[in-house]
Amino acid sequence: MTKTNQPERAVWAEKTTVCMIEQNVLPFKYQVFRSESYAKTIVAIKTMITRGAGSIGAAAGYAMAQAASEAPKNDYLNFINTAKKEIEASRPTARDLFAATERVYQKAKKNKALAWLEAQLVADEIVDAGEKIGKLGNALLKNKARILTHCNAGWLALVAHGSAIAPIYEAHNTGKKVFVYVDETRPRSQGARLTAWELNRAKIPHAVIADNAAAHYMQQGSIDIVITGADRIAANGDTANKIGTLEKAIAAKYFGIPFYIAAPISTFDFETKNGAGIPIEERSEGEVIFQTGLDESGNLQKIQTVSPNSHALNPAFDVTPAELITGFITPKGIFTAKELLKLTINPLKPSHFR
Ligand code: MRU
Repeated sequence: MTKTNQPERAVWAEKTTVCMIEQNVLPFKYQVFRSESYAKTIVAIKTMITRGAGSIGAAAGYAMAQAASEAPKNDYLNFINTAKKEIEASRPTARDLFAATERVYQKAKKNKALAWLEAQLVADEIVDAGEKIGKLGNALLKNKARILTHCNAGWLALVAHGSAIAPIYEAHNTGKKVFVYVDETRPRSQGARLTAWELNRAKIPHAVIADNAAAHYMQQGSIDIVITGADRIAANGDTANKIGTLEKAIAAKYFGIPFYIAAPISTFDFETKNGAGIPIEERSEGEVIFQTGLDESGNLQKIQTVSPNSHALNPAFDVTPAELITGFITPKGIFTAKELLKLTINPLKPSHFR
């Protein structure tokens, strides 16, 4: 919480400057990255200075508003159209990026002041969604619950509160004892670096585990529930999230452990029927080949951990089929995949079929 008792934000705007907590240097350094132009905000999204579906969405919305501010009067529409395409090309999987850019673009077509109001609204709505997910998801966590999570779906990833971590914060804040198994989440280690940092700050008991250790703990009976976030959820409930989520869902199903996805409504892509239609981002092989961390003298070092001359493959996300997902924790309630199909906003709902 900040001094004004507002939750700390991972992304925010100061006039027309977009400010982002620099997630590439956490947990070793706490720095704020300031972007004065839409092009620089795009670079911040691409290089994962800000990351996580909700934070990417907020940053993309602000980038669209920055473009409206930068657009010359005599070429206004052309300029914002080009900017929209560039923002949308920055990261392909996170649905929130497209939802936010489109919303702000529609206002930017009228004028830049409306664009900024909308960008702020987008960010505020993401924060509100995280708070509601936390309150609703807390009902799934009993006292002494042991939770497995993958990647970082905390406040760094959703502007504030978080998605998968929001119910854990709420449980902790309402006096429940919880323990969190944090998947390391190679190759970029968002679990080991960011989720562990968040949980440390909140004094929530946790342990980082190697990515390949989760099934072992499930088999031992040490995990009661799995909760992850999402980058895009298709109309039938198939869910794209950080690479490795699929493996955890398969293992959870095998051991009979409930597996939940937590996400705001803006992460749902009701126009995409199923997971086969979700674009999967491929990132550079350097993210697999090199690791960054502190050496014994406390200096940040990038080191090679893969055999020289070997190549690497680096899909950033995978798709978990809806049948492996126990439920979706959303700000509007907790739904099964079948219930999702009944939502009025879902074009696949039964009444749409003759
Ligand atoms: O590549 P990243 O770090 O942006 O991927 C993030 C995730 O996969 C999160 O689990 C996801 O965004 C859900 S949290 C809002």
